[in-house]
Amino acid sequence: MTEHNRAHNFNAGPSILPLPVLEQAQKELIDFKGTGMSVMEISHRSKEFEAVIAEAEQDLRTLMGIPSNYKVLFLQGGATLQFAMVPMNLRPAGASADYIVTGSWSKSAYKEAQKFGATKSVFSAEADNFNHLPKQEDLKLDPQAAYLYFTSNETIHGVEFNSDPVPPSGVPLIVDTSSDFISRPMDVSKYGLIYAGAQKNAGPAGVVVTIIREDLLERVPANLPTMMDYKVQVAGGSMHNTPPCFSIYMVGLVFKWALGLGGLSEVQRRNETKANVIYQTIDESGGFYKGHAQADCRSKMNITFRLPNEELENTFASEAKKLNMIGLKGHRSVGGLRASTYNALPLESAQALAGFMKEFQRKHG
Ligand SMILES: Cc1ncc(COP(=O)(O)O)c(C=O)c1O
Repeated sequence: MTEHNRAHNFNAGPSILPLPVLEQAQKELIDFKGTGMSVMEISHRSKEFEAVIAEAEQDLRTLMGIPSNYKVLFLQGGATLQFAMVPMNLRPAGASADYIVTGSWSKSAYKEAQKFGATKSVFSAEADNFNHLPKQEDLKLDPQAAYLYFTSNETIHGVEFNSDPVPPSGVPLIVDTSSDFISRPMDVSKYGLIYAGAQKNAGPAGVVVTIIREDLLERVPANLPTMMDYKVQVAGGSMHNTPPCFSIYMVGLVFKWALGLGGLSEVQRRNETKANVIYQTIDESGGFYKGHAQADCRSKMNITFRLPNEELENTFASEAKKLNMIGLKGHRSVGGLRASTYNALPLESAQALAGFMKEFQRKHG
């Protein structure tokens, strides 16, 4: 199997994984490290699995440069469960939390947090169907807030922060980085908590990586539901109960693959090259293709664009599918097309899409 006979996979998540990672998993599937069992069949308390999770953590620490005062957790419940766990654990009774609402995912997190405590939206671009991001001066931040929450990349609308919002002094910054996790270097020390569902850049669905600054654990109230308590998860080394062993094994392989490429600066360089190939085609189309996001915040991971009408958009998606370009239909809330160009997508796939876009415009423009 080569990259050439695989699909051009533009799925938004679950999404493309690196071919060498899939091949390694295939090789080890039946007999993991001489155990005569697959990684799905061994005890999570075995020394083999202890090594898998320890190595995954260590590789992520190296890849992201995670300081020693941060804990790394491999959790379940998807990124959606973090929408609840963040306020349950980190917003003390009576305190309020600030949310920057820039798309469907931050809106969902905001609504979840509202269910059980004071929650303030400090910015919303909903009136413009989330096509832009705030400038720092647009944010009316509460200096007493329990934390400031944002989503670094909105997967559905295709807007991505180039520089992070700055919280008032002493207010922890919390980020949902599910769809641009390990796509670029990040200064972990700026954040109180970082989390990401794995199923875009980091692996299969079923595991969420949460990175939390140690001192914030002091805020965790007593008597939270066990599995939703960060302190319990830290104490149990992400194994208070049976963890998603296979997903953790896979994210570990992806971290090693990214390290092997040369780390996150190189990953970022590749991602920018791919995104530029497609954005350039949009920009040079004389308005035939129109990006959803404003140019200063368009995502390097999820490229959202429209054609002159819906009929053409449907034709585009179905003709692309015939050429093995998969997953291009936009989310129903934005419409149009969306090309997700995650870490594992080869440059050739971005080039194939750009070529198809030009040809499609020549025929239908
Ligand atoms: C930015 C972002 N946050 C949260 C989620 C929800 O993730 P999950 O399906 O793992 O709960 C998604 C899913 O696509 C996402 O893109």
